[in-house]
Amino acid sequence: MCGDVKAGEEENPLRNPTVNLGSQSHCPAFQAEVEAELGALRSAELYRCLRTVEGLPGPRMRVDGQDVLMLAGANYLDLAGDPRVIAGAQQAMESAGCAAGGSRLITGNLALHEALEHDLATFVGAEAVLIFSTGYMANLGVITTLAGPGDVIISDALNHASIIDACHLSRASTRVFRHNDPEDLARVAASCGGFRRRVLVLDGVYSMDGDVARLREMAPIARASNMVVVLDDAHGLGILGPGGRGVASQEGVVVDIQIGNLGKALGSFGAYVACSHTLRELLINRTRSLIFTCGLAPAPLGAAHAALRIIQDEPWRRLRLLERAEQLRAGLKTAGFDTGASTTHIVPAIVGDNRATMSLCERALALGVHAQGIRYPSVPEGTARIRFTPMCSHSPDDIQHAVKIFSELGR
Ligand SMILES: Cc1ncc(COP(=O)(O)O)c(C=O)c1O
Repeated sequence: MCGDVKAGEEENPLRNPTVNLGSQSHCPAFQAEVEAELGALRSAELYRCLRTVEGLPGPRMRVDGQDVLMLAGANYLDLAGDPRVIAGAQQAMESAGCAAGGSRLITGNLALHEALEHDLATFVGAEAVLIFSTGYMANLGVITTLAGPGDVIISDALNHASIIDACHLSRASTRVFRHNDPEDLARVAASCGGFRRRVLVLDGVYSMDGDVARLREMAPIARASNMVVVLDDAHGLGILGPGGRGVASQEGVVVDIQIGNLGKALGSFGAYVACSHTLRELLINRTRSLIFTCGLAPAPLGAAHAALRIIQDEPWRRLRLLERAEQLRAGLKTAGFDTGASTTHIVPAIVGDNRATMSLCERALALGVHAQGIRYPSVPEGTARIRFTPMCSHSPDDIQHAVKIFSELGR
């Protein structure tokens, strides 16, 4: 169970605070503060722990030693354990080793980066692409490069945490508008006239709600107010839009900067920014989360490249994923769950209360179905939920089984 000391870890002082640390012990006042903070998290039902996952990624895995139906990951197209993707990682390692060995601006800009950037740019229809080591770093880097003191960032209320952190770090003014509400965006836009640059930042698919940015209505507002539009399409790439090209192509809208993720539908690790050649040049020169960190390693580059070819050759994966998501959403709704505004492969069942949500999650896990309970600050307070993320390789029976378990437990 979450937070308990596991067998074999009794001697590990980090896992078992009763182990005597002798003269090496930490500052006692600080230890007490840490324990008090953990206690406060427990009292608010906000304590989190790490689960141990084993096995090749897929629809069935082992979680905390138990075989489960996996409905909690971002390996939507079941490519993370695909033999062709693994072979892509192996070939990249055999040709370029295990590490980029430095910042991309020193020794870490590999031919493998450039080859993948070229094919990603062709795939999404962008002039240029720049690979970052994670989506978090891509958001942090792009937003802080585009906006600083004297600028304003206009941000959706449910944007990803990395965007919120980027807004703080940028020292630009930030104006938050009501989630996915074009009218409120227009209201906020009207108050941003005095700033040097206006940057609108949206998620393509909202990661805890599974709804899609209303780009068709928002893009004209942004253009009329001379905003730069940044779309974080971490969850849309590979799945939504013609050929899986993402939310902007689904909505028929051109954005200035599209950020995509290699660690979700593509089953690998890392992220990229699709933009103009000139902006790519500026990012290479100015973006601290690119300059002051190691380049992405060969294995994830090779894996993502293999996965990119597969998603183009096998459109059935994304189509089947969307079918399974629809079945899941309909089943949960029939069972009385509130699936919010979800229309995609991310399907929440909104419960509200933290304790009830986590109890539902743990009881389902004990019965062999893993969909994660999500609480504040990942979602607003009072909207805790079970977040289901099906995969294209789940069968209709798998989905039916998950719905049955949750509807029995939810009763
Ligand atoms: C919308 C969104 N943006 C960015 C990220 C961060 O991506 P990464 O895990 O590659 O850091 C996530 C990850 O969950 C996400 O959901």
